[in-house]
Amino acid sequence: MAFRILITGASSGIGREMAVRLAKEKHKIAITGRREEALRETADQIEKEGGKALVLVGDTTDPQTVIRHYGEIQNQWGGLDWAILNAGISLRNPGTQFSAAAYKKTFETNVLGAAYWLEAVIPDMVKAKNGTIAGIASLAGFVGLPRSGAYSSSKSALMVLLESLRVDLAASNVSVVTICPGFIKSEMTDKNDPRDMVFVLDAEIGAKKIIDAIKKKKRLFYFPWPLALPMAWVLPNLPRGVYDFIARRILKRRLKDGKKC
Ligand SMILES: NC(=O)c1ccc[n+]([C@@H]2O[C@H](COP(=O)([O-])OP(=O)(O)OC[C@H]3O[C@@H](n4cnc5c(N)ncnc54)[C@H](OP(=O)(O)O)[C@@H]3O)[C@@H](O)[C@H]2O)c1
Repeated sequence: MAFRILITGASSGIGREMAVRLAKEKHKIAITGRREEALRETADQIEKEGGKALVLVGDTTDPQTVIRHYGEIQNQWGGLDWAILNAGISLRNPGTQFSAAAYKKTFETNVLGAAYWLEAVIPDMVKAKNGTIAGIASLAGFVGLPRSGAYSSSKSALMVLLESLRVDLAASNVSVVTICPGFIKSEMTDKNDPRDMVFVLDAEIGAKKIIDAIKKKKRLFYFPWPLALPMAWVLPNLPRGVYDFIARRILKRRLKDGKKC
């Protein structure tokens, strides 16, 4: 059966890989992002794989743009079966040079951008008593990672929001899936120092795992397990003094290696 699917942030990375993979199953896929040319490349790949693409160019931090985009989806398809809220940014924001502007931009994209879409899609899904909403959070949302305060806290906010919605929407037969990936190769992680990343997955593999979890309507899915185990289970439950000790040792080593902080 062909689904009507939204993927925000499908002009690159995980979003594009998910779109291309889902296209092989002949779904209708609405894709969003600010870069029109890159989005059109994703759309070409969707059509080549046998899916149907709807290109929606614009900024997810602008609520009017999201309302307009959802209006186009309603006009074309009447609504959605799946909404995958994937658009996100990661800005370096070390505590010693803390920037409220970077914090604001991160929350506007990673949290409010998702919230605008939630406000748009939930009423029709509740009315239809059908739908799946998936949010791409991160293993970084389980703890306040050093030098990533804005990113970590934005992903925590998204996870907690989705958790609350999952319970609220269950009686309306709308499923909410929270996805917490570890490191996946993409434009976002291409900016990182490779020494800061472990158990890095190709975007194709990451996209497959995410889609499988959405199909199974998993409440909370984190991967890969060698990184998920410490990030989601061990670190959050350590006494804070032990966490600080470990995190500071890692930070110190990075500084010794000549990294700016
Ligand atoms: N890669 C990882 O290791 C990793 C790990 C955990 C979670 N994640 C999460 O996975 C999601 C996808 O990231 P990625 O790794 O695939 O990075 P990416 O290649 O940089 O993709 C980010 C996508 O988000 C879109 N986006 C960003 N700001 C936007 C805005 N204001 N309006 C509309 N679209 C916007 C980008 O499109 P435009 O630039 O065209 O607007 C792009 O399509 C993010 O939420 C990220 O936090 C990634």
